[in-house]
Amino acid sequence: MLSPTPGAIGIFDSGYGGLTIFEKIARLLPEYDYIYLGDNARAPYGTRSFDVVYEFTLQSVEKLFEMGCHLVILACNTASAKALRTIQQKDLPHIAPNRRVLGIIRPTVEMLDGLTKSKHVGILGTVGTIQSNSYALEIQKLFPEIKVVGEACPMWVPLVENNEYETAGADFFIKKNIDHLLKNDSQIDTLILACTHFPLLLNKIKQFVSPNINIISQGEIVAESLKQYLQVHPEIEQKCSKNGKRTFYTTEEKQKFAESASVFLKHAVSAKRIAL
Ligand code: DGL
Repeated sequence: MLSPTPGAIGIFDSGYGGLTIFEKIARLLPEYDYIYLGDNARAPYGTRSFDVVYEFTLQSVEKLFEMGCHLVILACNTASAKALRTIQQKDLPHIAPNRRVLGIIRPTVEMLDGLTKSKHVGILGTVGTIQSNSYALEIQKLFPEIKVVGEACPMWVPLVENNEYETAGADFFIKKNIDHLLKNDSQIDTLILACTHFPLLLNKIKQFVSPNINIISQGEIVAESLKQYLQVHPEIEQKCSKNGKRTFYTTEEKQKFAESASVFLKHAVSAKRIAL
């Protein structure tokens, strides 16, 4: 039986990357309580199949509901691409009709309004996000005139997770993918960083693209969109507790989480281990 009393906002990611989103949300909306859940033991999700990403994401959402969350943000592009729609349409009506799960693709895509002049947009993401075609489909719904080209960047997540993202090795892989994308479509004037890890690579990415190209990073966009969501959905907002409390859970060993999480948050984090 799920508790009806107000609870923290749940932030879910396959691992550490969602911390880049969590950080911006918590900065913009500090009064709320947050529970961050990283499924680090089973990350990365970016190379996993649709069914597996859906299954793992649903387990995590159910766990966050059990912990009292009425609202869960899938702060992971791969999970948003492969699991969000099914959870919203198929699962929520049965398991928790009054609770909400939101993703991060739609708010990111909404940002394109008026931004691209050439109407050519590049998406940089994991293999899973690019293969799902979710960004292209979402963009087509809102801006059918925009041409979308995706580039899977399988080495970028490991570069960040292994703290190699400021090295010459990172330069090689970032340049390789950017060059390939821009060779595919030289009219691209806007790039979406469609992976939670990529904001950490922003300075490097900027080195390999013309300053005329817009680069969209998601954290602030998702935070702003959540703020608006809470304003127009008072029935959900009232169920979000407000004591400024942050709790971190990981499916991995907690010491390991603490070490890597500090790469993303630039401060120490203490997490509890949890089984899903
Ligand atoms: N958080 C994932 C995303 O935004 C990247 C890491 C992973 O592959 O699990 O797509």
